[in-house]
Amino acid sequence: MLDIQKIRAQFPILSQKVNGKPLVYFDNGATSQKPQIVIDSIVDYYSRYNANIHRGVHTLSQLATDAYEQARLKIQNHFNAKESYEIIFTSGTTESINLVANGFESILQKGDEIIVSALEHHSNIVPWQMLCEKKGAILKIIPMNIQGELIMEEYDKLLSTKTKLVLCNHISNALGTLNPIEEIIEKAHNVGAAVLIDGAQACPHLKPDVQALNVDFYVTSAHKMCGPTGIGILYGKEEWLGKLPPYKGGGEMIATVTFEKTTYADLPHKFEAGTPNISGGIAFGTAIDYMNSIGFDDIAVYEHELLVYGTEKIKEIEGVTIYGPNDLSKKASVISFNVDGIHPYDIGTIIDKLGIAVRTGHHCAQPIMDFYKIPGTIRASFAFYNTKEEIDIFVEAVKKAKMMLS
Ligand code: ALA
Repeated sequence: MLDIQKIRAQFPILSQKVNGKPLVYFDNGATSQKPQIVIDSIVDYYSRYNANIHRGVHTLSQLATDAYEQARLKIQNHFNAKESYEIIFTSGTTESINLVANGFESILQKGDEIIVSALEHHSNIVPWQMLCEKKGAILKIIPMNIQGELIMEEYDKLLSTKTKLVLCNHISNALGTLNPIEEIIEKAHNVGAAVLIDGAQACPHLKPDVQALNVDFYVTSAHKMCGPTGIGILYGKEEWLGKLPPYKGGGEMIATVTFEKTTYADLPHKFEAGTPNISGGIAFGTAIDYMNSIGFDDIAVYEHELLVYGTEKIKEIEGVTIYGPNDLSKKASVISFNVDGIHPYDIGTIIDKLGIAVRTGHHCAQPIMDFYKIPGTIRASFAFYNTKEEIDIFVEAVKKAKMMLS
């Protein structure tokens, strides 16, 4: 069992008041809060051993390089990647996806097909649309049903030897749907297609094993899992990362440079041009250690409790519609909903005055909102440091907002 009060005390921001009320932070899908230990690791780097990495012979550069590469090892270990050089540091999930999309420019042929799921965030739609436009490739969509679940029979029909790549999120940011990625990966591989899984929303809740999943690419951001913004990873199988050309040119990614010809560095440096987010990488490692010290099994149990409790309480609000799977075992601790006749933004604005942070709008997933024919939703996304008492405060606040707006 988690000691929630002890955990909450590790997050300085959670004891704050916002608009004169104790903060209720239910916007974890957008970004998680940071424990003191992660904040300290950034301060420690800048206070004690700030230097550029992989470059200097001097002591500070060596210390910084060691800490940064140590973080890569922690991340390798966390995701169970076979090799540390299969972990590429990027600025986050969006850049990781763009890196792969850029690389596939040299692989895709006219008429090839890419499949994306109907549940994707814009960051896992737009780069593929841009790629298809450039290459004359075709984008196909795995449709969803009214419960926000992918229709797997339709996926079967889309797959063929023309399919080169399948893109899907592990968990939907807008609805919380936990997608059957094992099946998606296996079926794609049966037709010879590669698979990229967007794990941005999954990694705060569970611990993916990239070798067990046999996934080709897995991408995520540190800031959703207690780490800083501006840092994330691309995991890629060695064979794939070897095939993809570099994404950005610059220092650090080369083996030799002359004006006639440049040869590229080995993995992972081939994809890591320029001075990276050094403190971010180090703090990402600290965040991974922190979350593992809490324990993903306990996190899953507790967050499921919050999801069940929150769903019941929100259902008590008259005129409420919750979007996403009814079967809560197929859902992360995210509740996306609307109240009849009231714009989500109006509720979000009123409850902000009561110290409550939620996201309202289309959640960078406009096709999902179009499917439901709604402008957006109110999304309460819970983390392991949230409590049932906060859910009570939130539900009372929504009821109050509804009264004011009706
Ligand atoms: N993708 C983030 C969200 O869902 C920003 O809020």
